[in-house]
Amino acid sequence: MKRIVTLALAFLSLSTGVLAEVVQINTPGSSLVMQADKGKKLKHLYYGTRITDSDAANLKAAGAALLNAYPDYGVDPSVEPAIAVEHADGNMTLDLVVDGIESREENDASVTVIRLRDKAYPFFVNVCYRTYPGLEIVETWTEISHSEKKTVRLNRFASGYLPIRYGDVWITSFYGSWANEAQIQCEPLAHGMKVIKDRDGVRNSASARSEIVFSLDGKPAEDNGRLIGAALCYSGNYRLIVDASPDKNYHHFIAGIDETQSSYSLRPKETFTTPVLALSYTDKGLGQLSRSFHRWGRDKKMLHADKLRDVLLNSWEGVYFDIKENEMDQMMADIASMGGELFVMDDGWFGVKYPRNGDKQGLGDWTVDTRKLPAGIPGLLDAARRHGIKFGIWIEPEMVNIGSELYENHPEYVIKAPNRDLTYGRGKTQMVLDLSNPKVQDIVFTVVDTLLTRYPDIAYIKWDANMPIRNHGSQYLSADNQSHLFIDYHRGLEKTLRRIRAKYPDIVIQACASGGARVNYGLLPWFDEFWTSDNTDALQRIYIQWGTSCFYPAIAMASHISAAPNHQTGRSMNLKFRTDVAMSGRLGMEIQPRNMSPEERDQCRRAIEEYKTHLRPIVQHGDLYRLLSPFDRLGAASLMYATPEKDRAVFFWWKTEAFCHKQYPRVKMAGLDPDRNYKVTEMNRIDLKPLAFEGKSFSGRYLMDKGLEMPLSHNAPSADEWASRVLLLTAE
Ligand code: DGJ
Repeated sequence: MKRIVTLALAFLSLSTGVLAEVVQINTPGSSLVMQADKGKKLKHLYYGTRITDSDAANLKAAGAALLNAYPDYGVDPSVEPAIAVEHADGNMTLDLVVDGIESREENDASVTVIRLRDKAYPFFVNVCYRTYPGLEIVETWTEISHSEKKTVRLNRFASGYLPIRYGDVWITSFYGSWANEAQIQCEPLAHGMKVIKDRDGVRNSASARSEIVFSLDGKPAEDNGRLIGAALCYSGNYRLIVDASPDKNYHHFIAGIDETQSSYSLRPKETFTTPVLALSYTDKGLGQLSRSFHRWGRDKKMLHADKLRDVLLNSWEGVYFDIKENEMDQMMADIASMGGELFVMDDGWFGVKYPRNGDKQGLGDWTVDTRKLPAGIPGLLDAARRHGIKFGIWIEPEMVNIGSELYENHPEYVIKAPNRDLTYGRGKTQMVLDLSNPKVQDIVFTVVDTLLTRYPDIAYIKWDANMPIRNHGSQYLSADNQSHLFIDYHRGLEKTLRRIRAKYPDIVIQACASGGARVNYGLLPWFDEFWTSDNTDALQRIYIQWGTSCFYPAIAMASHISAAPNHQTGRSMNLKFRTDVAMSGRLGMEIQPRNMSPEERDQCRRAIEEYKTHLRPIVQHGDLYRLLSPFDRLGAASLMYATPEKDRAVFFWWKTEAFCHKQYPRVKMAGLDPDRNYKVTEMNRIDLKPLAFEGKSFSGRYLMDKGLEMPLSHNAPSADEWASRVLLLTAE
C-alpha cells in the first residue's frame, strides 16, 4: 500500500487536502481527486460527492480509469488534447509529468497548484485549483511557460479537462441569437463530437453560452440527480468540446479559449494564463447546481452583489436616438414620481462634428451634443438632483464609426486586415477599435475617466458593444503575431477595465452587448449586471431569463417593463404581466412614461413600492427555485425565491399560453421550511376581489407538497388572457 502523507491536515472540512500522491480538492459537498506521483503523468481519479481520505486513497482499486488530468498531445496523438504545442525546434509533442505540488491560502481561498514539466524540454504547465469556504465551486486554470531558446507555439491551451463516465449522460447547453438569447437545449449525449463555441471576437454569449451541464442520471431534473456544471469564465472566443468517443468508457470534456486561427507564440519566460473554468458538482439536481453558481457568482465574481440594485428607467425604448433635454427632464420626473431611483440616458447624446442621430455616425466622439442638451451633462445631473434620483449614461467605448473625429484622426486604431477593405457592422459604418493596442486601451480608459472626473455624480454606466470582429487583422500587432488578435483584444479589454475599476471602484456598470451578448462570468468581475436581452417582450423574457438563470443570479439580470405593443415582437400584454416578469429580475423600466395613462403610472408606482419594500431583497439576494419550466410547454411557468433563512419567499406564476379551457398543472412550491407557517399576500394585485388564499397561512410542508391553485384570469377591468400572479410568503 502506498504511503499517504497529508500536507494540509490543518484545514477544515471545507478546505483542500493535499496528500503526497493523491490530491483531493474538496468543497463542502464534492471532491475532485487526482493521482500526482512525481515523475509520472497527472491522473484524474474522481469528481463527485465528497469522499473521505481513505476512499480517495482506494479510488484506483475501485476502478478509476486513470485518464490524464490535463491530456497533452504527442505521446498518444489519438487522444483529444487539452494542450498541444510546437516546440522551438519543431517537435510537436509534449510529455508532461508531475514535478511538484503546492498549496497556499490566498485571501479567503485555498489554491492548489500541481506543477507539471516536460520530460525532455524546459516546458512547464501549472494545473491550478481554487476553492472557497462554503462554496460549491472548484475553479481550475493553467499557467503555461517555458525556457526554451525561442518561442513555442501554443496550438491548444485549454483551461481544463474532465472525464465524464459513459452512461445515460445528458447535456444541457444554451444557444440563441439577438433578442432570443439563452435558449435551453437538453439532449442525451450521443457518440461523436459536440462542440459549443462562439467566435464573435468581441462579445461571446448571444449565439451560444460558455456554460454546460452534464446530467449523469438521464434527463436532468430540478430537484434530484447527479450533475456537473461548468462555466468558462472568459469574454472572448471560446470552445467547449465534448468528445464522446465510442471506444472508451469516458466522454472527454475540454474547455478553453477557441484556438481557431489563434495559436499563440509564447516567448521564453512568458507565462500564458488560461481563463478560469468553474466546476460544480451536486447530487440534488439543476436547482441546486444553479444556486451553487449564483452564490459563488454573487460572492466572488460580480461586483457589489451585496448591495441591492436601484430601480431605473432607461431611455432607449422611450426615445431611442431622439435625446432632448426637456424629455430627459420629463422622464426623470416621471420615474421619480413612480418611485424609481435612477435614470439612464441611452444612445444619442453625443457627437459634435458627427451628431449621433442614428446608428451611422458619432461613435468615438464622446462629447455632448449641446444642440440636444444645451445645459450639457451638468444640466442633466442638476435635473436628477432636483428629482431626487441618480443619473447614468450610455457609452460604447470599444467602437467607432467611419463618421467620427476619432476615425478621421486615427484610422490605424481600427481592426482591419492588411490588403483588405474595411468591414462594417451596425449602420454599415461601425468598426471595432483594436484593443490589443495600448494606445487604444488608453482611449477607452479616457472615455470613462473623462466622464467620471468631469461629472463625478454620474452613478451608472451602460457599457454597450454592438459589433463582432469581422476582419481578422490588427494594425498594431506585428506580422508574426496576428494570430494573437482575439486573445490580445480581451487582454486589452481586461486591462482597461481593471484600470477603470482601480480608479472608480464604486460606480455601477452594466455590461450590455446588443442585449445579452456579454453574459459571461469572465466579465462580471468588472460589472455589476448585464442587459439580459434587447427583447423586452414579457412572454419571451420568461424563456430568456429562465435559461440565463441556470448559471446567473437574478441580481445580475436587468429586466425592464416596456411598452405595449412590444417593440420587438409587436405583442401586447397587460401591464401587470409585463411588471410581474420584470419584477423577477433586477426591475427597471424601458418606456416613455409620458405615453402611459395616469392609472398605468399609478399601477407601476405601487408595484415599484412593493418591489422595493418586499421583493427586492428576496429576489436579488435570495435562493432561486425553478418550479415549472416554460420550456416544458405546459401553458404556464413558475419560479420562486426564498431567503437563505427561509423566513420570506416570493412566488411568481405566469401563463405562457393563452388557450381556452386548457388544463394547467398545479405548482408545488420549494425552498420553504416545512415546519413553519407562511402568510400569503398577493403583490402587484389588480384584482377587485382578493384571491381566496389572500392573508391565509399555510405550512411550508403543505405549500411544497401541494401548492396553491392559481386562478387563470384576472378579476379586474384590465384583465386579459395573459394572467400572472406574484405571492409574498412571510413566515409567522
Ligand atoms: C444595443 C443595446 O442592447 C440597447 O439596449 C441600446 O442601448 C442600443 N444598443 C443603443 O444603441
